[in-house]
Amino acid sequence: MKASPSSGPSKGSRSVKDAPAATRAPRHAAPTAEVLALAKRAIEARISERCPKSLALAERGRKVLPGGVAHDNRYVGVPSLYMQKARGARKYDVDGRGYIDYWVGHGALLMGHGRREIVEAVHLAAQEVMHPGACHEREVLWAERVRALIPTAECVRFTASGSEASALAVRLARGLTGRDAIVKFEGHFHGWLDHAVNGIDVPFETPWSVGVPGAVRALTRVLPANDLAAVERALEGRDVAALILEPTGASGGSVPLAEGFLEGLREACSRHGTLLIFDEVITGFRVAPGGMQAKTGVRPDLTCLAKVLAGGMPGGAVCGPKPSFEPMQFSGDGARDRTQRVAQYGTFNASPVCAAAGNAMLRLVQGGEPCRAADQYTAQLKRRLNALFKNEGVPFAAYGVSSVFHLFTAEAAAAELLRDGEIEAVQIKADRLKKKGMLDGLLRRALLLEGVDLPPGRQAWVSAAHGDEELEETVDAFARAIHALRELDCL
Ligand SMILES: Cc1ncc(COP(=O)(O)O)c(C=O)c1O
Repeated sequence: MKASPSSGPSKGSRSVKDAPAATRAPRHAAPTAEVLALAKRAIEARISERCPKSLALAERGRKVLPGGVAHDNRYVGVPSLYMQKARGARKYDVDGRGYIDYWVGHGALLMGHGRREIVEAVHLAAQEVMHPGACHEREVLWAERVRALIPTAECVRFTASGSEASALAVRLARGLTGRDAIVKFEGHFHGWLDHAVNGIDVPFETPWSVGVPGAVRALTRVLPANDLAAVERALEGRDVAALILEPTGASGGSVPLAEGFLEGLREACSRHGTLLIFDEVITGFRVAPGGMQAKTGVRPDLTCLAKVLAGGMPGGAVCGPKPSFEPMQFSGDGARDRTQRVAQYGTFNASPVCAAAGNAMLRLVQGGEPCRAADQYTAQLKRRLNALFKNEGVPFAAYGVSSVFHLFTAEAAAAELLRDGEIEAVQIKADRLKKKGMLDGLLRRALLLEGVDLPPGRQAWVSAAHGDEELEETVDAFARAIHALRELDCL
C-alpha cells in the first residue's frame, strides 16, 4: 500500500512573513520565541485544516483521556493524529492521509505493520483459546525460542510489558542478594514504574514523575554512564543488588556507551556481588537476534525483554541463567515458599495470542535478515539526512546504532561535528545529547504535513519493511519540511 495522494507536499502555506516585521528573526540567527510561537500556530493550523476527523477525535479524547492520550509520549500538543490502518512501513490516519512510520509500534514491529505470518498466528490463537487460565504449549515454545536466541536465556519468566520485566528483574536481584539498592545511569529508561523514575530526563536530579515516595526513590541511585570509577565507588559498599542499563546507551543509544564500559561493568558487578541487568527491551532481537549480549559477548545475570519479543502484542520477559531464577523456584515446602520466594502474578503473562505473535516474530527474526535489512536502511537514512542537513546548512544531525536513530537538533556546533563524523556522540555529555532543540517539535510537526511520522522522544525506529521508496520519500519530506520552516523564518 502506498501513501494516499493527499499525503503529498504542503502547498499554499501561510507564512509568518505576513506577520509584523518586528517579530521576524534574521536568517541564520536563532529564531525568537515569538517567531517560534507563530510558526507553531501556522503549522498546527495546516494540520487541523487537513485532518478534520483527527481534530474531532482529539476533542472527544481530551474530555475523557487525561492529556487526550494513553501514553505520555503520544502527547504531541494539539492536534494529535488518529491512526486507522497500517501496512508495512506506512500508516494511515482517519482522514485518509498516509505516513511513513518511524514509531513502528514504539519499536515493537521489527517486521513492519500487518506482517502476514504474525497476523495469522494471532487469529488462530484467538480462535483456539483466548485465555485458558492454564499452562499452554505456546508459552513453552515461546520460552524455547527465546532460549535459542538470547545467549544467557536458560530460564524465561514472562510478564505483560517491558516495565514489568524491569520490575521483576530488580525484585529477583533483591531476592538473590538480600540487598535493597539498585544503580542505574543518567538518561536510561527502564519503564514507568516506581523503581525506575530517577534520572530519566534532564535535569537528571528531578524525578520523571511525582507520586513516587522519596523512600522508594532513595533506593535507586543514578550515575553518569561511562564512568567506571563512579561505578566502583557505588558498588564497593556491597549494598547494591543490581546495576541495570540499556546496553547501547540511554534511549536506545541516543547517549552511547564508551568502548569497554560494558566489560568494565561486568567485571565490577562480579567482584562486588551485584547482579548485572541488561534492559534489552529495545535491543533484544533488533540489534541482532541475540541482542547486545550476542553482539558484544558481555553476559548479564538477568535480561529484560519486550517489544520485538511479543511481535506487536503486549508482552515482556526476564531471562537469564538458571541460578538467577533460584528465588522463584517452588521448593514444595509450603511454609518456605510462602515466606522466602520471589513471587510474581500477571493475568496476561504469556497469554496465547501474545505468545502466538511472539513465536511468529521470533521465527522470522531468528536468521538475522530482518535485523540486517533494518540496519542497512537506517545507515543509508542517516547518511542521506546528514548530507541534506549539510547542504541546506541546517543545525541538525542524525546518528545512532543499528536500526534506532536519533535526530539531534539541540546545538548547532555539536550537530555539525556529529553529522560530519568529526566527533562521535559518545564524546558529548548525556545532558547535552538528551536536550531537545527549540526546533525539534516544529520539525516533527512539519514532517507530519509531509507524510512522515517521527516520534517526539529521543529515538525513532526502522523496520525491515522500510525500503527504497520509503527512503527516497523520507529524504524528500525532510527537504520540504526544512523549506517550510525556512519560509516561517525559523531556519
Ligand atoms: C529500554 C526500555 N525498557 C523498558 C521499557 C518499558 O517497556 P513497556 O513500554 O513495554 O512497559 C521501554 C519502553 O520504551 C524501553 O525503551
